[in-house]
Amino acid sequence: MGDDIFPRSVAHRALEALSDTPVVVVNGPRQAGKTTLVRSLPYPGTSLVVTLDDSAARAAAGYDPRAFIERSVDTLVIDEAQLEPGLFRAIKASVDQDRRPGRFLLTGSSRLLAAPDMADALVGRVETLDLWPFAERELVDADGPAFIDVVFDQPAALLHRSAVTRADLTDRLLRGGFPEAARRRPPRRRAWFDGYVRTTTERVIRELADLERLAETPRLLQLCAARTATELNTSAIAGELGIPARTVSSYLAHLTTAFLVRLIPAWSTNLSAKVVRRPKLVVADVGLAAHLQGVTGASLARFGTTRGPLVETLVATELLRQLSWSETVATIWHFRDRSGIEVDLVLEYPDGRVVGVEVKATSTPRGAHFKGLRFLAERLGDRFAFGCLLTSAPEATPFGPKMAALPISTLWEVGD
Ligand SMILES: Nc1ncnc2c1ncn2[C@@H]1O[C@H](COP(=O)(O)OP(=O)(O)OP(=O)(O)O)[C@@H](O)[C@H]1O
Ligand SMILES: [Mg+2]
Repeated sequence: MGDDIFPRSVAHRALEALSDTPVVVVNGPRQAGKTTLVRSLPYPGTSLVVTLDDSAARAAAGYDPRAFIERSVDTLVIDEAQLEPGLFRAIKASVDQDRRPGRFLLTGSSRLLAAPDMADALVGRVETLDLWPFAERELVDADGPAFIDVVFDQPAALLHRSAVTRADLTDRLLRGGFPEAARRRPPRRRAWFDGYVRTTTERVIRELADLERLAETPRLLQLCAARTATELNTSAIAGELGIPARTVSSYLAHLTTAFLVRLIPAWSTNLSAKVVRRPKLVVADVGLAAHLQGVTGASLARFGTTRGPLVETLVATELLRQLSWSETVATIWHFRDRSGIEVDLVLEYPDGRVVGVEVKATSTPRGAHFKGLRFLAERLGDRFAFGCLLTSAPEATPFGPKMAALPISTLWEVGD
């Protein structure tokens, strides 16, 4: 990736929201591309972008929020809006006077924008969109539908041969989706990620709470990376950090709020009486996870190095990112029961249909890898839409009527 600006898939969602909703919020992790997006959207009318990163603007917004937002433009874009919470009441008052759609577009980098203050003030007047770092799908120059839009209705279209090599996949694991990480070669990328971790843990988390143990936050994030794509075990993390489990839970909530980690809930289903209820923890970006794990291209190439959790992190974040802008609305879960049956990721469509996704960092898919998916297929009957085993084999191979082993790259290559 050079210096070009890549189109963002969430842009059309933002424009749609602006066409019928007075206030739109674009929220997401630091450095995901929020400012770039809101500065380059093709607004239908006149627009003005102000940023509260600018101390003069922030002072003005705090001094007289009402006056600050009265500008003679169709859309006023306020970047880093969370820095002046007083704006939300002013925006509410203004929107109640004039409910035209698309009046305000706010960006921020923490769930503060979804916090009670703002949610209360703007309820019924606001739509919130998340901007994550690039999905692999966004970095491929393709117009067709994304994996998530195909897998429920035309899974047969997913069967193809991939040109992605093991080395390509390793590159993707190490880079993740942050534009600046994608732009840099490994040694410089490391410096960038180091700075990213330092600033986000210090600044974002300080914005969220006065954490007396702020010093432990980077270490907590590191432990999360060591455990990415595994079930959350709060007491084990608490043991390693030497702090109470309760404290770990509240810090994890802050890391989630800052978009640094995500929890994928356990699927609550009556298919098995012994379902495990712990969520699965995933670092929000695979490049960040790989950086925090301290892995390199050389160490990942070494025989016997476990790349499974990083590969699953790539898959989970790709699906979550595609769901943040796709036509398809689905929820994402993981499934395991105490007898050892598990499916890494379960996608559930609003009509109840289910797609199971297993991830194996192997190049030789076998029938035994489909155990969990077969369990789902048998129990769900017609609700079971498709089961895929994502592996690093380049060939797609059907394994029975509604199941196939697919190359991992199917997630972003399909529909080209
Ligand atoms: N669509 C894009 N294509 C290419 N590069 C991009 C794109 N969006 C952002 N970038 C690059 O990524 C970096 C971060 O972008 P930007 O400042 O827009 O992110 P942000 O989410 O506003 O970050 P922050 O939360 O720190 O304000 C910049 O160097 C920018 O040039
Ligand atoms: Mg910004």
